[in-house]
Amino acid sequence: MKISGTGSSLPKLEVTNDMLAGFLDTSDEWIRTRTGVVSRHVISDERLEDMAVDAAGKALDSAGIKAEELDFIICSNVVNEYVTPQLSSIVQGRIGASCPCMDINCACAGFIHALEIAESFYMAGRVRNVLIVCAEEPTRMTDWSDRRTCVLFGDGAGAAVLTPGDNIKSIKLSASSAVDKLWQYRLLLPTPYVTKDEHDVPLQMKGQDVFKFAVKAASNDITRVLEEVSLEPDAVDHYLLHQANIRIIKAIQDYLEQPADKFPTNIRNHGNSSSASCPILLDESVRNGIVKKGDLVMMSAFGAGFVSGAALFEL
Ligand SMILES: CC(C)(COP(=O)(O)OP(=O)(O)OC[C@H]1O[C@@H](n2cnc3c(N)ncnc32)[C@H](O)[C@@H]1OP(=O)(O)O)[C@@H](O)C(=O)NCCC(=O)NCCS
Repeated sequence: MKISGTGSSLPKLEVTNDMLAGFLDTSDEWIRTRTGVVSRHVISDERLEDMAVDAAGKALDSAGIKAEELDFIICSNVVNEYVTPQLSSIVQGRIGASCPCMDINCACAGFIHALEIAESFYMAGRVRNVLIVCAEEPTRMTDWSDRRTCVLFGDGAGAAVLTPGDNIKSIKLSASSAVDKLWQYRLLLPTPYVTKDEHDVPLQMKGQDVFKFAVKAASNDITRVLEEVSLEPDAVDHYLLHQANIRIIKAIQDYLEQPADKFPTNIRNHGNSSSASCPILLDESVRNGIVKKGDLVMMSAFGAGFVSGAALFEL
């Protein structure tokens, strides 16, 4: 397939590090130097589905595709206000599409998993036009009195429309079960029969373990992708990495021995928006002219599970 259009949508409220330091034992200096984040967009009165629909509409417009022409919609989402129906069903109805759809929950690596599903369905002759929407509100998962987690995240939605083409050169996914490193527990409704001790637990993270996993997984995934297409890191024009921590991005850049200007970032003003991070970065990089038609792009993401993936495509 090829990525024919992109779109993104963000909540209006921008929360700076200094605003966080107003109620948390933290500082702009700590957050900036340890993570690269200066501010992030946080949901206030918006609904995530509105952002998903907005991003989807922009992606369809930029691809020149009508919602009725879509054959499939994949939404990547960890949490939203609905437990059911799936977010993709809500998006399908609101944009006026009539195709099948499904949600996936692959945490921050969701966009690359969705690309793999779309490409596989296309190669199997099942679809021609696919909409991917990644919409995430990780700020609703963290404990806002826990300075180790809540400072890292931001909300938003990113979307892409894929149409027939041979621009996707290779995708590699990987998984390595590690539930205790990055997890959240949601309390379900009681029944007359449940006897287990259950609690709501906000997002928990072993930061240094996740850091090491991220660098190792991304370096491996990117290397496997390059090996499959017999290319060296130099051949790639842009590395669009999941925006989790600027130091993780720098470590991967050092491993690949590539110049910093090949790694566009937006973590400074967005934080980590889970699976929305990659498509938002792609959309912004296309719209501000950094990534152009014909450029070779490596995308790489990693997240809870652990799961990770890398994709090489020509825009
Ligand atoms: C979370 C992360 C930024 C922490 O950075 P770090 O350099 O590993 O920092 P540490 O966890 O060692 O903490 C160092 C100190 O800063 C403190 N600290 C943690 N958060 C802080 C904050 N927001 N403000 C001030 N101090 C903070 C810690 O309590 C610790 O203090 P101590 O030494 O007195 O115990 C980093 O580990 C990381 O980015 N990990 C990956 C996270 C990620 O990518 N998650 C999502 C994956 S999709």
